Amino acid sequence: MGSFMSDITFKNPFPAGWQAVDQADAQAVVRFAAERFGSGLALASSFGLEDVVLIHLLTNVTEQPHIFALDTGRLPEETYECAERVRQHYGVEIEWYFPQASAVEELERTKGLFSFRASVENRKTCCGIRKVEPLKRALTGRAAWMTGQRRAQSITRAGLTVLEPDPAHDGIWKFNPLADWTLDEVWTYVREHAIPYNTLHDQGYPSIGCAPCTRAVQPGEDERAGRWWWEEPEHKECGLHSSPRSYRGNN
Ligand code: ADX
Ligand code: SF4
Repeated sequence: MGSFMSDITFKNPFPAGWQAVDQADAQAVVRFAAERFGSGLALASSFGLEDVVLIHLLTNVTEQPHIFALDTGRLPEETYECAERVRQHYGVEIEWYFPQASAVEELERTKGLFSFRASVENRKTCCGIRKVEPLKRALTGRAAWMTGQRRAQSITRAGLTVLEPDPAHDGIWKFNPLADWTLDEVWTYVREHAIPYNTLHDQGYPSIGCAPCTRAVQPGEDERAGRWWWEEPEHKECGLHSSPRSYRGNN
């Protein structure tokens, strides 16, 4: 078996022109993604600080961006308010995806409304129903997607690259244009460009997910310390993001 990189290169060569892109320049990365993939590209937005930066960068280079959001049914009100401000500010359509109603009904009837607090397994079941399954539908027919993940966010993202194949979604391309950015750099960009953002960020929430699974962090705590705060750091992924290190393509 070859190395990880040679497996990827063999199964899924980088898109033509990628090697010439300056990966440190997020606008250049977003422009490349938009030009290379056109309507086959979709931006995943949770309306966190990184995502509003990406929406700004994407609307700079395309008039009809595909921006989708997963409405888990448990998002904070501030997230909906931010989404609406962004929609109006940039004049973009937000493609909302909901979980399957029957799956949520079954979950809530059998396990109650806060089953995710009982165990990591229960939490992943809830994330599976409310996020992972809708994401699969959102990415159906896409050739590439874009996320606001950054390496500095958590130990689970330390190996993140700007462009990677997504093993969980048929190996389609996944752009993480802000992979190298620090939280301070994101804030600087948001302020310099007067980008609308989620007001929870001003109340001690560097990272925002579902309301019952997110809380404010204390000074000095990690950026994602307020996400699933009752779990160990290595478990703090909801299943939207899989590492390509396990990627082997289709044999
Ligand atoms: S996650 O654990 O919820 O996936 P995080 O909140 O750090 O992590 O989000 C990382 C990226 O995943 C976001 O920048 C966005 O691209 C995508 N994402 C997360 N939640 C959603 C959502 N509800 N809808 C669409 N995209 C999302
Ligand atoms: Fe369920 Fe919490 Fe995951 Fe949201 S973050 S889908 S409420 S477990």
